[in-house]
Amino acid sequence: MEERTGTNGTVFCERGRLYTRSIDPGKRVYSERLVSIAGSEYREWNPSRSKLAAYLSTGGASYPLRKDSRVLYLGAANGTTVSHVSDIVCDGIVYAVEFSSRSFRDLVRMSETRKNVNPILADATNPGEYSFAVDKVDVVYSDVAQKNQADILADNMDMYGARFGMLCIKARSEDVAAKPEEVFDMSKHRLQVRGFKVHEVRSLEPYEKDHVMIVAERPRTSYAVVFNDVGQFMMVYHPRRKGWEMPGGKVESGESSSEAAVRECLEESGYVVEAISDKDIGYCDVCAARVVKKVSEGEMESRFFDSIPDELSFDREEYESVIPWARSEVLRN
Ligand SMILES: C[S@@+](CC[C@H](N)C(=O)[O-])C[C@H]1O[C@@H](n2cnc3c(N)ncnc32)[C@H](O)[C@@H]1O
Repeated sequence: MEERTGTNGTVFCERGRLYTRSIDPGKRVYSERLVSIAGSEYREWNPSRSKLAAYLSTGGASYPLRKDSRVLYLGAANGTTVSHVSDIVCDGIVYAVEFSSRSFRDLVRMSETRKNVNPILADATNPGEYSFAVDKVDVVYSDVAQKNQADILADNMDMYGARFGMLCIKARSEDVAAKPEEVFDMSKHRLQVRGFKVHEVRSLEPYEKDHVMIVAERPRTSYAVVFNDVGQFMMVYHPRRKGWEMPGGKVESGESSSEAAVRECLEESGYVVEAISDKDIGYCDVCAARVVKKVSEGEMESRFFDSIPDELSFDREEYESVIPWARSEVLRN
């Protein structure tokens, strides 16, 4: 059994067949073949039964899943593919959304022994419906086979801060009369209009007729947590969002995250800052920095704070963890 290249050690292959390493040994989910090798049990993953397996079997190269990924899976059905995603993200979590109560019963049964699967009976066109049960995720995987598939993916990625999206498009679900190629182009275009970068549009033939998998990524953003020499941190006031936030924005091509945060900080606040270190917090990067000097009027009002103000554009909880991290980085260096 060898690793399927480009899958971050999560998918395996032998003699042209795909496998995932079972986190629930001894159990079949849909009569798949089980193989034991060197103390591990592998479940064969049939590309005619699962579009994610079809994507990998046809050479799919943009694969964002890791062992610790947090995945929001839309259109879970009775869990065929979800069970393999549950093996793949063995140290992560799968929120599995399905609106058919019949399929949902099978999902619930499967989740009794697969502890990283959280079944949710809900409509994926209304992502706010399950915000009580879903935290931020890394990847949204969508296979809902209904109209507006690209926007359903984008709405869920926006709501749950996902960096990556995998979208199974069934041409006939979008428009029975249109040519499949037109439907695929239109879906790709919708994702681009919504601000995502499309990495791959791959036909799933010969396993699925008139289907593609589209893999999209949210452009990277980065923000700076900047300290002055008395230990206060800087925030800028965003007039449209009506709140204080850290200076930051999109990482342009050829820029590192720190370079982007330093540039955005200068544009927004007028302060030249020195980047100390950065870290990936999932949907974006954060750069710990210290003030060098003020050189111009920024685009926004900037102010230094001892504690997080009440009026914020974004999540307070995130700031409560990144500010202490950035402070310790600045003090250490
Ligand atoms: C093609 S099947 C999914 C197969 C499954 N992904 C697999 O590989 O095992 C599509 C599923 O999406 C569900 N579905 C369609 N629209 C939905 C929506 N708006 N919200 C939740 N589930 C939806 C359907 O009930 C169906 O079970």
